[in-house]
Formats: sequence, C-alpha cells, structure tokens
Amino acid sequence: MLENLAAQPADALLALIKLHNADPREDKIDLGVGVYRTSEGATPVFKAIKAAEAKLLESQDSKAYLGPEGDMGFVHALIPYVFGKDFDRSKVEGMQAPGGTGAVRLAIEVAKRSGVKRVWMGTPSWPNHAQIIAAAGMELKTFSHMTADGLADLEALKTALAGAEAGDAVLLHGCCHNPTGVDYTEAQWDEIAPLLVERQVLPILDLAYQGLGAGMEADAYGLRKVLSLAPEALVAYSCDKNFGLYRDRVGAFYAVTSDATALANAMGNGATIARASWSMPPDHGAAAVRLILDDAELTAMWLAELDEMRDRMRWVRDRLAAAQHVGPINMAPLGVQNGLFSMLPLRADQILAIREKHGVYMAGSGRINIAGLTTGNIDKFVEALRDVA
Ligand code: LMR
Repeated sequence: MLENLAAQPADALLALIKLHNADPREDKIDLGVGVYRTSEGATPVFKAIKAAEAKLLESQDSKAYLGPEGDMGFVHALIPYVFGKDFDRSKVEGMQAPGGTGAVRLAIEVAKRSGVKRVWMGTPSWPNHAQIIAAAGMELKTFSHMTADGLADLEALKTALAGAEAGDAVLLHGCCHNPTGVDYTEAQWDEIAPLLVERQVLPILDLAYQGLGAGMEADAYGLRKVLSLAPEALVAYSCDKNFGLYRDRVGAFYAVTSDATALANAMGNGATIARASWSMPPDHGAAAVRLILDDAELTAMWLAELDEMRDRMRWVRDRLAAAQHVGPINMAPLGVQNGLFSMLPLRADQILAIREKHGVYMAGSGRINIAGLTTGNIDKFVEALRDVA
C-alpha cells in the first residue's frame, strides 16, 4: 500500500531552520521562521514564563487528563485581553488548541460544519492558511492584501466582499500581517466591519501576534471593531509569539455569538474535532500562561518583556527604513509596517544568491523576520541586499 504514496516536498519555511543550522558560517543571518530574537540573536524563555513554570513545578499535583477543551482557566483568562474588559462574556466561549495552527484548524473545521463552503482570504498570506483550508476540503477565494505602494488594499477586500455570497467566510489577520507586516488601519477596519455584516459573511479572525505590533490593546482594534458589529465570528489565537512559547504549542479557539445554543454547539463541534485530531491539547505552556494572567506581578513582568520586544523591533524597522533605497528596493514602508515580518520584492534567484553568497536566510516569498536583525548584523544585511538587489 505505502508504495502508492506520492512524495511530498518539505515545508519550505520549516526546511529553512535545518538549512540555516547546517550552515557553518559564523556570520550567517537567520531571517526565516517567525521567532523573536534579542539584540544578541537569542530566543530566550520569557522571565515571566520561567517564574510561572517554577510555580507550576511547585503547585501542580496531577497530570491527569483535562479533556478536549484543555485548560479552561487559560482560555477564560485571555478573554479580556483579546475581546476587551467590557466584552459581554455570555457571547463568547473558547477552548485551548495546539498553537495558532490548531486554533485555525478548529475555526476552519467548525465553519465547515456550520455549512461554510468558501473562504475568502487576502494574499499573500501565511502559507499554512491555504493548506488548512485545502485540508478541510473547502474552496479558497483570494484577493490582494497589499497595494503596489505597500499599503493594505481595502479596495480589493471590498471587491471580494461584493462577490462573496451570504454564508461564505472571510479570514482576516487581526494584526502584524504575516508575511507582509501591512495591517489595515483603524479607519479601514471601521469600513470593513459593517461591510462584513452587510454581506452576511462569517468573519474568521486570526490573532497570532497580539502585542508585537502597536501594543496589546491597539493590536486588538480590528478584531474588536468587527465583533462590535458582527452577529457572529470565529477567532484563532496564538500565545506562541507573545509569550515566546513556540514549541509548547499554546493557542485558543473562540466562537462569538449571542445565540446560546449555537455557542454551545460551536464548542461541542470543536471538542469532537479536537478529540479526533489530537484528543487533548498539550497542557504545560497554557498552564504557565494561566499562572501569569492570574497574578498581577507576573502579568506586569510579561507585559514589560513584550514592550521590550516591540521597542527592539521598532528600532530594527527604523534602521531599515533609514536605509531608504537599497538598489531598486524602497525600504521606507518597512518603517510603518508591524510585527515580525516584512516582504522584500526579491526574485527567487536573488533570495538564493543572498543565502549562498552572504549566509542570509529568508523565506522564498522574500519575507524577512526583522527580529533576526541586530546591531551586530544589520549593516551586513543591508550590504548583502544591495549586492543582490
Ligand atoms: C511563521 O510564519 O514563521 C510562524 O508562524 C511559524 C509557522 O508555524 O509557520
């Protein structure tokens, strides 16, 4: 039987991790997969996480199963951060998921079970979005996320929505768009939210980088605007970046509706999908997040660490933008983009050349993880870019 299997290409982004690790050059630069790095190029465990883990070690008295919805203390502790302190708690319920990917998968599968057949999404997008939609057997309809000037393309979204049918879903990045770093402005969200309602589409909001753009509150603007008007929505949330928990796989899936039966059924369906997929999510990282959010001191420590990350990424962006033009590449937009990523207009041969000649690793789309740049390597990167651009 197994001889019938077709060969599969390795995931291009994840393959970069191994390629970079195998490169012996000491001055190689990793701008590939989306992990935060300090100015020393490290991805340390948050101090707040270490403190929560110490508490967990002391206090955890069992590792018995929790159930397919995972740690509900974690799921509920996040609600005020995601939805706002005053959000009507009777309208929202959630469950833990293995990372942002697990959360997106639950959102897409629950949408499908609700009768959604088509998902609209701006491109480029995180490659796993299209993969998950395809794996769920749903139709993907795309529109342009970004204009030629590097701004969020509201007109393309409006045109897409005009062509959408009632009951379609629209997948939107809440903040820190992956891979472009180009977010809709607050004024644009103000236009988008009523349009989603008018077109009777189901919003699916993916919030994987809250706090890495303009701050925890500001980064939730779009999601909260949509939820202030839309009768129902699904949310995929990740703590992998804003708590630095990447390999611990910490995410959450939420459904929002004032129909109590529909809300219970969204969770019931999510639970059966989880049971047949991973049964129960990994506990450790979510338990650590819960301990942080239940403790004012640890929360303050975590938020301060997040502020530091954001400030450092802003410094990198300012430095890149100050380079102005690198060959034909206009660097100015990088200064106003958000989060870990920006996209450089490079061809495949240029991306290969910068890797082979200069040891600079970036995704095949031209996406760079700006946190991979430090005081020690940013000038070298700009020169390498100038060489291949
Ligand atoms: C990324 O886009 O680099 C991250 O979200 C990691 C991943 O799972 O792709």
